[in-house]
Amino acid sequence: MLKLVLNFYLLSIAIGVNCQTEETIIPTLPPSTTRSPREVITVTNGGTEGEWGPLEHCPSGSRVVSYQTRNELATPRFDDTALNTIILFCNDEFVTNFTSSIGFSGDYYAVQTCPFGGYMKSFQLRVSPNGTEADNTAANDIRFRCSNGGEINGLGNTHGDWGQYSEECENGICGMETRVQPYDGGIGHYDNTALNDVRFTCCK
Ligand SMILES: *[C@@H]1O[C@H](CO)[C@@H](O)[C@H](O)[C@H]1NC(C)=O
Ligand SMILES: *[C@@H]1O[C@H](CO)[C@@H](O)[C@H](O)[C@H]1NC(C)=O
Repeated sequence: MLKLVLNFYLLSIAIGVNCQTEETIIPTLPPSTTRSPREVITVTNGGTEGEWGPLEHCPSGSRVVSYQTRNELATPRFDDTALNTIILFCNDEFVTNFTSSIGFSGDYYAVQTCPFGGYMKSFQLRVSPNGTEADNTAANDIRFRCSNGGEINGLGNTHGDWGQYSEECENGICGMETRVQPYDGGIGHYDNTALNDVRFTCCK
């Protein structure tokens, strides 16, 4: 996008210089023959508490191939929050990771990776809708489909229901924004839910 804007800017300068002596040439874009690639993939069953976190992404030229989750699973204690944090790993040489907004409780589970050569392209979220359980948890688990077949699954809370799969990112997932309800007091205060929703940006 930035490159497009820059090109247009340079083109405008070129036209600006020319039109001192010639008629203004109005650039016309060629008609679009293909549908523009999908830029963001979402699901419709996410929770609605908390603010959307920052968009973070892989270094250019790399894409997401693995993920890890932090979960506070069902315990006898009241106020579980289930899915808290999603860590994505890119296939650049430094195995860059990023999280957008993070939760505040639970344990880190094993890293899940697409079969060799594959990358993550779509996702599904397991959610307990607000008000369906005494202890709301919002998002419980997340899983992804890989470009070379197969599905990689988190090891999250088994409450709630899986929603529909998102659309696919043709060239894989490159960025993420999470919606996390911040910690707001312990038992007897607020029913914390931590991660509510997530959306991913597609690689170019
Ligand atoms: C994520 O990357 C940071 C460095 O930017 C590193 O310190 C951290 O250990 C990494 N996290 C995981 C889970 O690998
Ligand atoms: C979720 O439900 C609780 C109580 O059941 C309520 O206080 C809260 O406002 C609800 N949140 C949303 C986003 O609907």
